[in-house]
Amino acid sequence: MAGVEGRVIAVTGAGNGLGRQYSLVLAAAGAKVVVNDLGGARDGSGSGSAAADAVVAEIKDAGGEAVANYDSVATEEGGKAVVGSALDAFGRIDGIVSNAGILRDKAFHKMTADDWNAVQQVHLYGGFHVLHAAWPHFREQGHGRIVVATSTSGIYGNFGQANYGAAKGGLIGLINTLAIEGRKYNVLANAIAPMAATRMTEDIAPPEMLAKLTPDHVAPVVGYLLADECTETGSVLVAGGGQVHRVRQFQSKGVAFAEVPTIEQVGDRWAEIVDLDGAVPGSNPVG
Ligand SMILES: NC(=O)c1ccc[n+]([C@@H]2O[C@H](COP(=O)([O-])OP(=O)(O)OC[C@H]3O[C@@H](n4cnc5c(N)ncnc54)[C@H](O)[C@@H]3O)[C@@H](O)[C@H]2O)c1
Repeated sequence: MAGVEGRVIAVTGAGNGLGRQYSLVLAAAGAKVVVNDLGGARDGSGSGSAAADAVVAEIKDAGGEAVANYDSVATEEGGKAVVGSALDAFGRIDGIVSNAGILRDKAFHKMTADDWNAVQQVHLYGGFHVLHAAWPHFREQGHGRIVVATSTSGIYGNFGQANYGAAKGGLIGLINTLAIEGRKYNVLANAIAPMAATRMTEDIAPPEMLAKLTPDHVAPVVGYLLADECTETGSVLVAGGGQVHRVRQFQSKGVAFAEVPTIEQVGDRWAEIVDLDGAVPGSNPVG
């Protein structure tokens, strides 16, 4: 097989925006797609089947194969049901795009525990629930492709998005380890930080910027990360408006203290500790 042809891929939050576009592009390339969407509002309230159904109809009209799933990824049962839909309809699961998302933006001093929890449940726990249900199948068949939706807010931070940034940063931590644990089973795990005009960003960026950021620029990058020939794993890609970049952590040359320093001695060497000249890609010293 080549590309994603014949592969069974579940895309969560696929009823709108980026997930819809990922599903259309994957199905057009010959994948069988589980179109998952809870069908709620941007803040996670409400539910319905119309969003997922519309995308499935669009795929079928174009001659592709897809089934709808309406479960919330925010529960363990929901995650299992997404993978169950793939197994019931197509007999296997080859890839997951963990893309479902909500926003509850607020400055940290105004953020409630409910705002925090709701966002973690959908993004971070949602990723866990679906990926954990697919993982045994990936290991057993010696093939699996994972793409999680992260964000530049998770990588760099953003005012008003402490909950969202923490969840999106957590997903990078998740794929870093899944890449290590999955490597010998040909299970690849990467993260995409998209930039696209959707209902999530419609009031965040200026209209002239959004006009250039259509979701179709991002979908082929996600498609490649799901392809049989892809070997990339443990990477974070930023993609939007025709730009595609890899982001990663670097470690400064730093200093090595021969003996336990005093607080003042740390301060004396601070400029050297944080100087990124000559920094190299970081790696886990115990990994
Ligand atoms: N649009 C961007 O520029 C941008 C930037 C960075 C990250 N992202 C991320 O990309 C992903 C897609 O965002 P989008 O811009 O297409 O937003 P969107 O609101 O258009 O789509 C998100 C979809 O997820 C669904 N969803 C929400 N909660 C769910 C749940 N519990 N179970 C199943 N489905 C659920 C929604 O119904 C919606 O259809 C999100 O994870 C988002 O955080 C988007």
